[in-house]
Amino acid sequence: MAEKIRELLSEEEVARRVQELADQINGDYDGRELTVVGILKGAVFFTCELAKRLTMPVTMDFMAVSSYGSGTESSGSVKIIKDLDLPIEGRDVLIVEDIIDSGYTLSYLKSFLEKREPKSIRLCTLLNKPERRVKKEVAVDYEGFCIPDQFVVGCGLDYDQKYRNLPYIGIVEFER
Ligand code: IMP
Ligand code: MG
Repeated sequence: MAEKIRELLSEEEVARRVQELADQINGDYDGRELTVVGILKGAVFFTCELAKRLTMPVTMDFMAVSSYGSGTESSGSVKIIKDLDLPIEGRDVLIVEDIIDSGYTLSYLKSFLEKREPKSIRLCTLLNKPERRVKKEVAVDYEGFCIPDQFVVGCGLDYDQKYRNLPYIGIVEFER
């Protein structure tokens, strides 16, 4: 099946919003240290763009969890593929994700990390698709953009491992 990409959010819009989120986070964590946990691979671009704009002392770590495979629907089962390298006990943790869809991934991940007794744990996502939420209890502390129920790529997000490197967010239009 061929697909076309239609721009939803331009590179400039995304950059502007990332700066606004960083400003907000800088204010909230003023005088504290922050452990930024990026979720591989989708959140890598956003995590780096955000972290560059943070002004407090930052430690960076990454986790990998199982995702959709080649389809566009979540299975509901989440698996840790790569755990953190560093301990988070007693630390302020910010999980950085590319998109929250059903919420299965973040719901699982948050309770997984909470067992290590961090001082605090918050969630920052570039994109949020609230219409799709199954796990309603997932609290989004920082949200870049709220988007409609459409499959998007770019700025780290993929369709079948493609388009992660697009500098903008685009909607995938499937042709048949
Ligand atoms: P959730 O567990 O359903 O919230 O799914 C979160 C994960 O699904 C994200 O980290 C993405 O990897 C993937 N995902 C969900 N929606 C999209 C999309 O529109 N484009 C690309 N990946 C998506
Ligand atoms: Mg992901």
